[in-house]
Amino acid sequence: MRAVNVGICGLGTVGSGVFNVIERNQATLAARARHAINITHIGARRDNPACNVGATKVSRDIFAVVNDPEVDIVVELIGGLQPAKELVLQAIANGKHVITANKALIAEHGNELFAAAEEQRVQVVFEAAVAGGLPIIKVLREGLSANRIEWLAGIINGTGNFILTEMRATGRAFSDVLEEAQALGYAEADPRFDVEGIDAAHKLAILASIAFGIPLQFDKVYTEGIANVAPRDVRYAEELGYRIKHLGIARRVEEGIELRVHPTLIPQQRLIANVNGVMNAVLIEADAVGPTLYYGAGAGGEATASAVIADIVDVARTIDGGPEQRVPALAFHQHALSDAHILPIEEIRTAFYLRMSVVDEPGVLSGITKVFSDAGISIEAVIQKEPKKGAATATIILLTDVVQERHFQQTLAVLQELPAITEPLTTLRVESLDG
Ligand code: HSE
Repeated sequence: MRAVNVGICGLGTVGSGVFNVIERNQATLAARARHAINITHIGARRDNPACNVGATKVSRDIFAVVNDPEVDIVVELIGGLQPAKELVLQAIANGKHVITANKALIAEHGNELFAAAEEQRVQVVFEAAVAGGLPIIKVLREGLSANRIEWLAGIINGTGNFILTEMRATGRAFSDVLEEAQALGYAEADPRFDVEGIDAAHKLAILASIAFGIPLQFDKVYTEGIANVAPRDVRYAEELGYRIKHLGIARRVEEGIELRVHPTLIPQQRLIANVNGVMNAVLIEADAVGPTLYYGAGAGGEATASAVIADIVDVARTIDGGPEQRVPALAFHQHALSDAHILPIEEIRTAFYLRMSVVDEPGVLSGITKVFSDAGISIEAVIQKEPKKGAATATIILLTDVVQERHFQQTLAVLQELPAITEPLTTLRVESLDG
């Protein structure tokens, strides 16, 4: 049983977590992988006091790791698109297997990387790229391989979930909580990736490609962040029996596939509505098993290391076998799902939450409901608060039935023209997540 040599590029929080967990659980890993796992080379610009690398070879040039003939598996933990892409392509060209936690790299360049890996008959695996420690990629690829996946909905950005959780618990505004998330070190280096939904869109593109057997299509994910969620919408949602979560949703419908990331009202009684703080969760609806929910730490050194090392064990297990023995990175499904139509947002059907500020006069509410009845859109719930003493405007909240986005936006344009509407309308999508 020969040892498998691992080179780690990047010794930040996750890199040091990988080093420490491998040191700690060496014997267990060797038994599971049926090979000893040795970290033989680390590429890092600087040392990390969180791990004592002892006599392990360290290079300041990360490319020294991928060009080291002794290294069998390269673990890429530097993040970002470049030089990570060049590093991974070089590792593949050198015949090395690659493990990465880099969601942006896989979502945006995965198709190219997998093609290069196929040609070189090496593996590129990326469990840690989505939802940190949650083995959600293995769930889709292996655990649920018997099923047709109908849809999945995930809280896949911990920072966004932390912000929404705090807003609900304390009534604080978005910007105030964001500062706290940054101070606590949850947010990405560029927090726009978290709050504008880009990080979640990267992860959703990856999940959808595995769930539906389609190429990675990050550029087709409809993406909205959480910056416009106001404390009062969080409150009104609560009153209506809902909670606002920033969800990544991938759904197979007759006309194609929906890929979307946006703040969403979901019923309070769903388990996923009660996933709080920085935790992640993914709900999957599959034809044989029905709904299953996966919950756990979406970030953090050792939690993410757990997913990285599981990939190391998998690659080590099959390192002496042919590529046909391995779980493929992407398995394109038969029957043309590979050219599946990703639906533009205008074609998607959801229910809506709508908040309006209106002049407090007779006939205003009936004028609004007439616009909806003329449009054939059913109203499912209404709240009108008594205006504050002396106030000239009142707030009305509506929940609609499911409607096509294009039709809803046309109806909103009509509403916005009513003289009684005093401010731009606020809308959020609503999902029942009930199968
Ligand atoms: N910034 C990411 C998050 C880290 O908040 O979920 C893990 O990808």
